Amino acid sequence: MLIDIIAGARPNFMKIAPIIRALKLRQAVGGPLRYRLVHTGQHYDARMSGDFFDQLGIPAPDVNLEVGSGSQAEQTAAIMVRYEKLLLEARSDLCLVVGDVTSTMACTIAAQKLCIPVAHVEGGIRSGDWTMPEEINRMVTDAITNWFFTTSEVANNNLRRSGVSDDRIFFVGNTMIDTLLANLPRLRRPGFWDQLGLQAGGYFVVTLHRPANVDDGAAFARLLAAIGEGTRGLPVVFPVHPRTAKTLSEVHRLPENFRLVEPQPYLEFNYLVQQAKAVITDSGGITEEATVMGVPCLTLRDTTERPETVAIGTNELIGTNPAALKPALDRLFAGQWKRGGIPEMWDGRTGERIVRELEMLLCR
Ligand code: UD1
Repeated sequence: MLIDIIAGARPNFMKIAPIIRALKLRQAVGGPLRYRLVHTGQHYDARMSGDFFDQLGIPAPDVNLEVGSGSQAEQTAAIMVRYEKLLLEARSDLCLVVGDVTSTMACTIAAQKLCIPVAHVEGGIRSGDWTMPEEINRMVTDAITNWFFTTSEVANNNLRRSGVSDDRIFFVGNTMIDTLLANLPRLRRPGFWDQLGLQAGGYFVVTLHRPANVDDGAAFARLLAAIGEGTRGLPVVFPVHPRTAKTLSEVHRLPENFRLVEPQPYLEFNYLVQQAKAVITDSGGITEEATVMGVPCLTLRDTTERPETVAIGTNELIGTNPAALKPALDRLFAGQWKRGGIPEMWDGRTGERIVRELEMLLCR
């Protein structure tokens, strides 16, 4: 039985690593599943892709579709055309997709139209915000997925409400957290630590890349000014995503405490988060990692598809109005941030559970 494992963009790589590891462990004792790692090439820079393969010990992809940059439709189309061609030349028995990026949706459509079943890792999460391309990707993917591997009871209920029967839902936990827990002892201080004068608990980490926050130069500048003002002169380390870099070049004056750095490799980035006073972000995955590391997280969005990071974890939705930042940061400086707990099944064993279920589903 051959499984295609699809990875396309940065947040996919930490999600596939534990599944591949668990598959290899089973193969070593005669497990029946083989896999083919398909990289769509949606992210292609060393900093957005290659570094993650190296640090997380992910084997080189068996196939790279090399789609590169483009509009949402261009990327979707290019991935579908190239993945369909691959499947017609060499069919697989299951297409396993993770997360909510364009590659996730495009490969799901191509596979399902060739009657190849699809399993979706991190299925069922919803923000309800249709302006996010990721929400469209989630909804389209889940509408034609056979089996769902879920991270939370909220995701299970979203799926049930949309008519998915319980025998297709497998509540297994969070593969991103498998990767984090496995790598906590290996996290490493970035080379610029001393040069930027960073001290544990004495700086902020900022990541911003959502179109709603970064595509309009004037609004983005107001948001950065509010962050600069609320962080009271502590260093703000800002690894700049390539999408953000384009708008940032239009921002004439950055707050003085900002320290811009390149997108960081996995081990360095999570070291920065682990040691930070707090994280200010519009990412989804980082809210999960901050929750597990117990680091306060301020999310600059109005919605989240990961409500457990707010209900249980250290995350709070601040919204996109810059005026809301200061009161939240004042609470942080006053030591009034919640402590948070860890969501159910985020225990580092999700990859194993997924492989066990796949063996049952495909080989029974
Ligand atoms: C994508 C995902 C998003 C994820 C994010 C993490 C979708 C719809 N969005 O958004 O869910 O959180 O990745 O990074 O799939 N670029 C480079 N080098 C690269 C990759 C991209 O310079 O290796 C440039 C592209 O040319 C483009 C911009 O970065 O101009 C955005 O890349 P794209 O893949 O379109 O989407 P992201 O905004 O990164």
